Amino acid sequence: MIGKVKKEKSVIIEVNAAQMAKKGAEIFSQAAKKSVETRGRFSAAISGGSTPRDMHRMLGEEPFRSNITWDKTDIFWVDERCVPENDPASNYGAAKKDFLDRVPIPEAQVHPMPSEVSPEKGAFNYQQEILTFFNTGAGEFPVFDLIFLGVGTDGHTASLFPGQGSLDEKVRMVVPVKGGHPDLSRLTMSYPFINNGRQIVFMISGKEKAGVVKTLLEDKQRRFPAHYIEPLNGQLIFLLDRAAASLLSGENGYGGC
Ligand code: 6PG
Repeated sequence: MIGKVKKEKSVIIEVNAAQMAKKGAEIFSQAAKKSVETRGRFSAAISGGSTPRDMHRMLGEEPFRSNITWDKTDIFWVDERCVPENDPASNYGAAKKDFLDRVPIPEAQVHPMPSEVSPEKGAFNYQQEILTFFNTGAGEFPVFDLIFLGVGTDGHTASLFPGQGSLDEKVRMVVPVKGGHPDLSRLTMSYPFINNGRQIVFMISGKEKAGVVKTLLEDKQRRFPAHYIEPLNGQLIFLLDRAAASLLSGENGYGGC
């Protein structure tokens, strides 16, 4: 079910988490096809946490394993915990296990955030890696074809946590922060960079997220960090399962299930 809200957000509600994950993989595959046809390459930035893992596993299986042009795809991260790859908290480590080790993507096209140097150095190095990859001029934010985001029950997204200075970052594309569950040093992309994306997809599932979804989509007051994800020129999609959408009133033509 797809609805449109006033601010041109698309809301897609799938019957359960598995169908939501499948829809996410389809969005990934369609974005890859369109980007390669249009620009010859496809760049995606993915999130960590538990929500995207079913989708990641599907990307490593048929039909997605075969129908995505992995040789023209580059994968980046929206955020990362500053831990080694083999730490259970590592977003890169999880994605590697879930799909990157199972698809024919050249290693040089997988761009994990530098998680084992100082957070300040890691943030700077990743920003340099992104600028080199996109070959963008100084002061210009590169454009990712697709960005997947999750949302915490406190309304954080990426590792942009309530009340932190990172929410005010306007210049750097990647900044060091500390917080979250687990409470760790992390690297996160900043708002101006994320909001430059062509297509931004929030993937949110589960009853425990129903309150934050209702607030994000129906409250006029913008009190959560995730409220400030507003693509400058791109498309914003809320990809939900029924449980996460269960408190929506349906007044904007979506939800109410
Ligand atoms: C991270 C994630 C984070 C995540 C939300 C939701 O590295 O922690 O990027 O932003 O998307 O915390 O996490 P769940 O999907 O586990 O609910």
